Amino acid sequence: MDAAYPAGVYRHPYPSVGLKAAHPFRPLHFERLDPAVMRHRAEEFRRLMERRRSVRMFSPDPVPRELLELAIGTAATAPSGAHRQPWTFVVTGDPATKRAIREAAEAEERRNYEEGRINAEWRRALAPLGTDWHKEFLEVAPWLVVVFEQRYGVAADGSRIQHYYVKESVGIATGLFVAALHTMGLATLPHTPSPMAFLTRILGRPEHERPFALFPVGYPLDGVEVPDLRRKPLDEVMVVVDRPAGVPGEPQASAG
Ligand SMILES: Cc1cc2nc3c(=O)[nH]c(=O)nc-3n(C[C@H](O)[C@H](O)[C@H](O)COP(=O)(O)O)c2cc1C
Repeated sequence: MDAAYPAGVYRHPYPSVGLKAAHPFRPLHFERLDPAVMRHRAEEFRRLMERRRSVRMFSPDPVPRELLELAIGTAATAPSGAHRQPWTFVVTGDPATKRAIREAAEAEERRNYEEGRINAEWRRALAPLGTDWHKEFLEVAPWLVVVFEQRYGVAADGSRIQHYYVKESVGIATGLFVAALHTMGLATLPHTPSPMAFLTRILGRPEHERPFALFPVGYPLDGVEVPDLRRKPLDEVMVVVDRPAGVPGEPQASAG
């Protein structure tokens, strides 16, 4: 056993001696925090994220590209299946490109909303949001970021590289992207004007990339309103399991 492991904890240490001989490893830099600091940080972050809202009226005020680079750099720290990093973040602030995206998105959304491509149940779900086919914000927001999932990679010699858990990986990266934007004081909206093949065409992306979601990025327009939505409380989203399902345990001690 590698001397760096506490004796008796693991019988199969990672990395094994053989693995380390075959592939590079390095020590993890990890700082254990004081529990009070951990709690403070966790509460601060939750308070910050609770204030995140999707915005559908953006200000035209400019945003430095450097801030987008920081958000995308953060997104690109995400874990991914077999570390394939199967994402491309395409950024545009070009008015003609934004206009072309708006026009194509509105054409698809008009079919969704006006020509029955979304069914009655979906329509009911969207009613409190009041979304329709108008997507002016796609031209007004200073930046559009389109996240593409790479169905497979392409090596320098043109051969295909298998990607794994693409949607899961891109979803996690996209979550970090949204969190990074909110943390730096920018607003966004995950937008999916499906089908989204027009984004591949307008942005000139290769065949192995598929649009995942479109994100207008900027400041909210002053005075903008958002739907008054309720988020599920913790007891509706978190389940604690303390024994395998189907295994009878001791009866719970009752109070009093
Ligand atoms: C995958 C995904 C797709 C979405 N697509 C759209 C969309 O096409 N148009 C839109 O207005 N909002 C879209 N939204 C935003 C949701 O409506 C919004 O996140 C939800 O109503 C909760 O509001 P909040 O983001 O302010 O918490 C999408 C969100 C997600 C996660």
